[in-house]
Amino acid sequence: ATDQGKGAKATGCPVDHSRLSPTGCPVSANAAAFDPFTGPYQQDPPSSLRWSRDEEPVFYSPKLGYWVVTRYEDVKAVFRDNITFSPANALEKITPFGDEANAVLAKYDYAMDRTLVNEDEPAHMPRRRALMEPFTPPALAHHEPMVRRLVREHVDRFINNGRAELVDEMLYEVPLTVALHFLGVPEEDHETLRRYSVAHTLNTWGRPAPEEQVAIAENVGKFWQYAGKILDKMREDPSGPGWMQYGIRLQPEMPDIITDSYLHSMMMAGIVAAHETTALAATNAIKLLLEHRTLWEEICDDPNLIPNTVEECLRFSGSIIAWRRVATKDTKIGDVEIPKGGKLLIVNTSANHDERFFDNPDELDIRRENASDHLSFGYGAHQCMGKNLARMEIQIFLEELTTRLPHLELVPDQEFTYLPNTSFRGPQQLWVQWDPAKNPERTNPEILDRKLKIKIGQPSKRSITRTMTVRDIARETDDIVRITLADVHGRPLPKWSPGSHVDLELGDLSRQYSLCGDPDDRSAYQIAVLKDPESRGGSRFVHENLRVGSTLQMRGPRNHFKLDPDAPRYLFVAGGIGITPILAMADHARREGKEYEFHYCGSSRGAMAMLDRVVRDHGDRLVLHVSDEGTRLDVASLLAEPREDTKVYACGPQRLLDALADATTHWPEESLRVEHFSSDLGELDPEKEHAFDLKLADSGITVRVAPDQTVLAALRAANIDVPSDCEEGLCGTCEVGVVSGEIDHRDMVLTKSERALNNKLMTCCSRACGDTLTLEL
Ligand code: HEM
Ligand code: FES
Repeated sequence: ATDQGKGAKATGCPVDHSRLSPTGCPVSANAAAFDPFTGPYQQDPPSSLRWSRDEEPVFYSPKLGYWVVTRYEDVKAVFRDNITFSPANALEKITPFGDEANAVLAKYDYAMDRTLVNEDEPAHMPRRRALMEPFTPPALAHHEPMVRRLVREHVDRFINNGRAELVDEMLYEVPLTVALHFLGVPEEDHETLRRYSVAHTLNTWGRPAPEEQVAIAENVGKFWQYAGKILDKMREDPSGPGWMQYGIRLQPEMPDIITDSYLHSMMMAGIVAAHETTALAATNAIKLLLEHRTLWEEICDDPNLIPNTVEECLRFSGSIIAWRRVATKDTKIGDVEIPKGGKLLIVNTSANHDERFFDNPDELDIRRENASDHLSFGYGAHQCMGKNLARMEIQIFLEELTTRLPHLELVPDQEFTYLPNTSFRGPQQLWVQWDPAKNPERTNPEILDRKLKIKIGQPSKRSITRTMTVRDIARETDDIVRITLADVHGRPLPKWSPGSHVDLELGDLSRQYSLCGDPDDRSAYQIAVLKDPESRGGSRFVHENLRVGSTLQMRGPRNHFKLDPDAPRYLFVAGGIGITPILAMADHARREGKEYEFHYCGSSRGAMAMLDRVVRDHGDRLVLHVSDEGTRLDVASLLAEPREDTKVYACGPQRLLDALADATTHWPEESLRVEHFSSDLGELDPEKEHAFDLKLADSGITVRVAPDQTVLAALRAANIDVPSDCEEGLCGTCEVGVVSGEIDHRDMVLTKSERALNNKLMTCCSRACGDTLTLEL
């Protein structure tokens, strides 16, 4: 350690070794060897830092002169606190230029100033707020047809060739053109801009040799001058629709916030922010999916999966893999002391592969429910403003390619090369091939008319679907069938817990059914469906249309009806088809050796599904109530004596549930739990609501919630991501932490005592009692 200490000091280590560690140098061998420009970090950045995530999640790299942060929670915490960890160095040259290159820059009056991404408070937030509107989902919707047209035109150019280098032929140019459209720059000089952008990346994040620096500086200088010229042209007529014109128009109102220097610098930085990030992310995504062929085929079959696939690809292999901050005071990350002025490399790709946060992080799972919690767009006050434009572009690339070239494959044995730099990552070339004779549009030109509706923003969990096939249909009673469903490709299904349900797409309808089979059986799910004479179509569809071998789309499983594992005793009450979740619960209680009592009610034995199995498995705990045998359940006497140790779980007709609710009013709070498949909690009557403000503690903005708007909708309109699923107050997915302000709880998720804590809000339905809520967002 002492030798390393000397070595580290020789390279200019800023850490006072004698003070930090009595045993000598605090820099471990791994940390000393870390070099982001060569070797393992270039090959596979997240794996190359696994040692760090496991052993030394914050370490000082003497070669780089930076503290490197690699775990999810730490990276997020650094992003979250932009006061302690200033972004001022985000675009600083990671390798300083020599005198000759600096002289070249001076020749071009190069004066790149802070823009947004590297601006400190209090200057940053007013500017971000002022300039956000063009990035919001309604404003971005206007760009969708342009993006789609561009992608189509590019595919048209190569679709009959059988072979293409996608970066050159599409993935580089389309995001550049989109970026220029978005910024409002006339569509000219693409080639020049392209050369300039590469120079800018290497200038900022690369390690060019001294002789290369001069050439790079020439291009950076020219880029700067060119940006100035475009800006001058725009100022002559700032009426255009672009983001830059939007800023120019605001300038007279707020000259201190939108300065000349800002506009010139943003003109240049904006192209890089919007262009390369997206081009590289799209390249990474297509490469990844073609390397995982079955996943590619799945999105070809079911384009609904594309939005979540985009998030998973951004997580797995984002285009910005590390970002920078600098400590403004002596501070700590975990238990590592960071001195004031300490520079940080926060490796978001490592965070995205942290198993402390993501299950099986090295598996590409396009149905991963928390995929969009990745940190590839950063987090908090500086989180990428263009994230929804980028998401839209990558979605459209995938939609168009999977529709028109589902038979696309990677050219085998190609080598992927990456521009050596710390932060921007994506292969420089991506060769693909296919048999043009098999292009679907040759035989089926209608596929070109397929209209997919892009949902701008973070995908809802409801968009995560799975194609299932009907493996078996068994008749339980005259009116009830038990259906066994399996993944169409035979893949293992997600685990589920008692009380879970799935959503099935049945024709034009979506219906929910509780699972009732064996939760340990990952090969199949079972549901039971009653033929309901009052059916609005769901149960009729199941009974009349489904056959063994039919396929259908499934979402879930989800559990809004969870068993409390800590309850000492359970009382289960099932009425009719309500047996399905209750049976799964009772099975679980039996397996776990819990105390339970099981009441099953029906009109006649012949109408009671799975009766034989219920009797067989739960005989000693079971009480049957059969109306035509005169043994109808007497709810009042069953529940006459309140019991502290017992939780009552019930599913069945509304009459039964109402009777149970009446009969448990003298029981301890929340003794009775019932299944809710749907509710109208997400619906609002604007007449009865008031508007209020949300103060967002992490993002530094205030969002107004209108009377006809949910908190979730208001947050999304302000470009704040919040996951959601049911959007009806049933599932708890949209929960956010509340710092202050009184909550008007309207969900079915929180218990009374949880509500009383006033620290969690279900954004899809709950609101503010007063004028303001401060949220942990
Ligand atoms: C900021 C990533 C696309 C505009 C950022 C940051 C990251 C990032 C990591 C810094 C976040 C932080 O400090 O917390 C990406 C990725 C993209 C992408 C991976 C594509 C996949 C875009 C696009 C645009 C854009 C298309 C513009 C149209 C911006 C702006 C900021 C930013 C303006 C600065 C925000 C601020 O500091 O307030 N982006 N970006 N980005 N990005 Fe993106
Ligand atoms: Fe399900 Fe809000 S999204 S409770």
